[in-house]
Amino acid sequence: MSYSIPSKMKAWVYNEYGGVEVLKFEADYAVPEVKDDQVLIKVVAAALNPVDYKIRLGKFKTIDSKPPTVPGYDVAGVVVKVGSEVKGLKEGDEVYGDINENALEQPKRYGSLAEYTSVEERLLALKPKNLDFAQAASLPLAIETAYEGLERSGFSAGKSILVLGGAGGVGSLVIQLARHVFGASKIAATASTSKLEFLKSLGADLAIDYTKENFEDLPEKFDVVYDAVGQGDRAVKVVKEDGCVVYIAGAATPPGFSFLVTSNGEMLKKLNPFLESGKVKPVLDPKGLFPFDKVNEAFAYLETNRATGKVVIYPINP
Ligand SMILES: NC(=O)c1ccc[n+]([C@@H]2O[C@H](COP(=O)([O-])OP(=O)(O)OC[C@H]3O[C@@H](n4cnc5c(N)ncnc54)[C@H](OP(=O)(O)O)[C@@H]3O)[C@@H](O)[C@H]2O)c1
Repeated sequence: MSYSIPSKMKAWVYNEYGGVEVLKFEADYAVPEVKDDQVLIKVVAAALNPVDYKIRLGKFKTIDSKPPTVPGYDVAGVVVKVGSEVKGLKEGDEVYGDINENALEQPKRYGSLAEYTSVEERLLALKPKNLDFAQAASLPLAIETAYEGLERSGFSAGKSILVLGGAGGVGSLVIQLARHVFGASKIAATASTSKLEFLKSLGADLAIDYTKENFEDLPEKFDVVYDAVGQGDRAVKVVKEDGCVVYIAGAATPPGFSFLVTSNGEMLKKLNPFLESGKVKPVLDPKGLFPFDKVNEAFAYLETNRATGKVVIYPINP
């Protein structure tokens, strides 16, 4: 199979740091080059992450790639060209992944919110057969963050966990992985009032309404506290003496650690059976999919910090 690839594409681009208003829809943007270890993906769906808007707002100015930038880490689509060193993927393969190996070190300037994006083969996996492109695009960065944090914390069967921010993109997957992949003995999680049933549907035993209760007042302590909100000073009060706090949204306080997710196709391949068996499910925000021409509205929504699961853009390249 051979695909004809245009030289220009539609893409969302910003040329300066700022709010949602700096995002512009371009109809004639250059299609990215494909390096030897990369494939070119015709993007079908993409998902948004807080890191996209934090970079756009200029929070990581000293280390990120300077604009012009096409945002977007998460992608699902079809391989339309392969670099000369690519061994395991071919044209026509349906793939998904997080396109930036290191979340903040010089992220790509050609992200996934475009008709085409180039990605290293090692960051990708074949799309789980039972998932559509929108569902697959919702997963990579969030599930890799969830898994990497649990693994680094030494989480294992029989341990208990408290997930702060259980309804968000990362938290909703931490709950599911803790339950179905790691074999947690007890899962507690926090969210606001209307999302408590949702936490339970993901596998939480105890859903804590943070608008009414302080989780520090719980009578028990946990082996691991996974903090996806940035509540480190409070998180340390509910962790067992020999336990550990995982910080992804703020500075670490002992006993705990913070980390930045590493994109890793092998990890996605390892998780594919849990996705294909339906044990772990993608969580798409109930507001629904945002079409490609509404990326700015999708960001405005994500930036309210109230999204449930993932905000997904579909279709791109209908
Ligand atoms: N270190 C890393 O590698 C890494 C990787 C991924 C993400 N992150 C960071 O981790 C954070 C979470 O990411 P995400 O993608 O999960 O974000 P998200 O999906 O945008 O999170 C939104 C969710 O946060 C919940 N929330 C907000 N304030 C809360 C509070 N005080 N208590 C409990 N829940 C609260 C909201 O629920 P309610 O509406 O009920 O409040 C909402 O469902 C972000 O800061 C992101 O930048 C870091």
